[in-house]
Amino acid sequence: MNFRCHVREVFFEETEDDYVPEKRTLPEGGKTVLLVGSMRNNGNSSKFADELNKMLDNQAEKIFISRYLNNLDLLVEELSKVRNIVLCMPLYVDGLPSQVIRLFEIFEKKYEGSGKKIYVLTNMGLYEKQQLVNLFTAVSLWSRKMGFEYGGGLGMTAGELIGVLIQKIPFRIGPSSRMEKGMRKLADAIRSDKTIVDIYEEPHHFPRSLYIMIANKSWNIQARKNGIDPKDLYRKL
Ligand SMILES: Cc1cc2nc3c(=O)[nH]c(=O)nc-3n(C[C@H](O)[C@H](O)[C@H](O)COP(=O)(O)O)c2cc1C
Repeated sequence: MNFRCHVREVFFEETEDDYVPEKRTLPEGGKTVLLVGSMRNNGNSSKFADELNKMLDNQAEKIFISRYLNNLDLLVEELSKVRNIVLCMPLYVDGLPSQVIRLFEIFEKKYEGSGKKIYVLTNMGLYEKQQLVNLFTAVSLWSRKMGFEYGGGLGMTAGELIGVLIQKIPFRIGPSSRMEKGMRKLADAIRSDKTIVDIYEEPHHFPRSLYIMIANKSWNIQARKNGIDPKDLYRKL
């Protein structure tokens, strides 16, 4: 976590060992679902899911968790026959979005089907790729707990920038070029039922300082749009 704080006390409690179910075999056939875990239906996760789907010859189905928030049981039921789930989601507070965590919990309680393969396609707002490690680890641990196979994933930084750029220039060109290569590896793994080592990508040939400058400017623009003086963003209470 990136909190600035002092740790006063640390407690260790004995808990029962986690139940690890037997690894189930993958069902024959079955489809691939790109499960969008963002609350923004038209956001970056959805756009990246579309890019991945193009590489999968549009054979995958895109489903938004946000449309099932009041009935996640139904979503678990609908995913029960799916072979590959690609979690297309943003990094929220250095971890998984809470709607994805809720879905995981309901899966643990309700799911009784066969094994699955879980992939990740994630993006984040900041620039530093190592911050995605907790998200990948959480999905991999949950997959193990469920008896699913973790297939690996692609993590992209500067999502707000790349999300805009890919609508203006081809994904394979410019700052997103390495991400495009990473996405191809992910698509190949999904198609050939393989596992990859998690891929972390930052914008190519796009200085971090320039990214921060652009991001800061956009906060000022948003502040003005909302009738706030940009100086107020730095006010200390
Ligand atoms: C509640 C919330 C928490 C976020 N936390 C982080 C974070 O910890 N680190 C980061 O780099 N970006 C963070 N972001 C930025 C998003 O990951 C980024 O804007 C992403 O592109 C959003 O994807 P989406 O359009 O699919 O929602 C956060 C955004 C929101 C709304």
